[in-house]
Amino acid sequence: MTYQTLLFETRDAVAIITVNRPDKMNALNDQVVEELRDAIERVATDATIRGAIITGAGAKAFIAGADIGDLAKQGSFDGKARSLRGQRILRRMETCGKPFIAAVNGFALGGGCELAMACHLRIASANARFGQPEVKLGIITGYAGSQRLPRLVGKGRALQLLLSGEMIDAQEAYRIGLANRVVPADQLLAEAEKTLRGIIANAPLSLALTIEVVDRGLDMTLEDASLLEANLFGLLASSLDMKEGLTAFLEKRPPEFTGQ
Ligand code: COA
Repeated sequence: MTYQTLLFETRDAVAIITVNRPDKMNALNDQVVEELRDAIERVATDATIRGAIITGAGAKAFIAGADIGDLAKQGSFDGKARSLRGQRILRRMETCGKPFIAAVNGFALGGGCELAMACHLRIASANARFGQPEVKLGIITGYAGSQRLPRLVGKGRALQLLLSGEMIDAQEAYRIGLANRVVPADQLLAEAEKTLRGIIANAPLSLALTIEVVDRGLDMTLEDASLLEANLFGLLASSLDMKEGLTAFLEKRPPEFTGQ
């Protein structure tokens, strides 16, 4: 697919996806959503890509939410369909087994904050703002933000954001655990890439199964989740990467993982 609203760049196993509608604060219209679906699928299925960074074009916005013009036209059933479609795309990103980092370079509002929450880490520039302003528009979150936000920051803080519709700054997002780090704006992409490269230097199967066990385990009992962990721990014992990781340590050399 040729993208009209995204920039897609790959650099040594890292994909950098930039939502590119700066004149509209990178709002997610139907075309952006379709192109994001394609870009996420590309990351998920291209074996040469090990992880991705998602950011927004321009200095002001990461993504200022769903396109309010599109929302204004929707009826009940296409509203539901739009919500389910967005949820499916974010879930694909969250569960495809490769790490995604949101490099939040400005406003992350509504669907933008929801997309950032579906990424595995969020690195914010000092000028970033986060918020779920849906209640100010007579709607609610549609990309599962009502579910991911309390899982990330706890029910009380989530309800404060969801019910007030107010924005918080990057430091507050960091304080409540919504942002993993805050960095100066001019270092955001470099820091996000450095973080991602640090992650993908690790064993690929370990990364995929860590994502899986944390994601699935959170909705299980501690006992069932612990059993899932033990099963995946055992499964990795059949991988070449486990042998390589342990042998490399014992031989005092860096490991060379192959993802097998
Ligand atoms: N959908 C569609 N267009 C949007 C948009 C959105 N979510 N967010 C911003 N835009 C557009 C504005 O309409 C404006 O377009 P125009 O120049 O054609 O009039 C352009 O982006 C610039 O936005 P503007 O509001 O002029 O910039 P600002 O710096 O004064 O304010 C925001 C920035 C992000 C605070 C403000 O645009 C805003 O509140 N956006 C809506 C956020 C929101 O409610 N998102 C949740 C949607 S569910």
